[in-house]
Amino acid sequence: MLQVNNHLDVPFVPTPFPVVRAMLNVAELKASDQLWDIGCGDGRLVIAAALEHGVHGVGVELDPTLAQQARNEVEWAGVGHLVKIIEDDLLNVDFSEATVVMLFLLTAINLKLRPKLLMMPPGTRVISHRFAMGNWIPDAAWTLGTTPIYRWVIPHNGPELLRQLEQEPTAPNGNPTTPP
Ligand SMILES: C[S@@+](CC[C@H](N)C(=O)[O-])C[C@H]1O[C@@H](n2cnc3c(N)ncnc32)[C@H](O)[C@@H]1O
Repeated sequence: MLQVNNHLDVPFVPTPFPVVRAMLNVAELKASDQLWDIGCGDGRLVIAAALEHGVHGVGVELDPTLAQQARNEVEWAGVGHLVKIIEDDLLNVDFSEATVVMLFLLTAINLKLRPKLLMMPPGTRVISHRFAMGNWIPDAAWTLGTTPIYRWVIPHNGPELLRQLEQEPTAPNGNPTTPP
């Protein structure tokens, strides 16, 4: 029987490979990193990180067909010893072991993840393709063609920063009501 995944928060739109490479480069990966892609689609980010940088990765994907495709791609790429695919909802998953978090979702979903992200150890890198994080201003941003890539590095005062951000007045889209 046909399964309808009507609970996906974001449709599958794969990140083009030049953007994948740029996201991995700005993450400044080290061999000890644990890279998680939250909403991993066909697994291209975690697979490229394993193949090109030798890092361990975990992909989280709610769509069972895509999760299986990602597992197949992991096997074909020969990186099963480095990469795991978890089939689950991104809001249920404990990704606190990640040292690098990759996102290509929507600002509204990024904002739902923000409390967990700001509780992560200082130095954890968060890289987002296209979508920002409301009034949490990125530490760095790049544009590849017309595609923005944002990077945040979790600071030492993450929980305090979260309280401040949540108290600031924001527009309905989560952006500051006054320019920073
Ligand atoms: C825009 S695609 C990005 C895919 C991949 N990260 C990339 O950059 O190529 C977003 C992915 O998130 C998945 N997704 C949507 N809602 C989800 C949820 N609640 N939990 C886990 N994955 C979800 C979609 O199925 C899709 O594969």
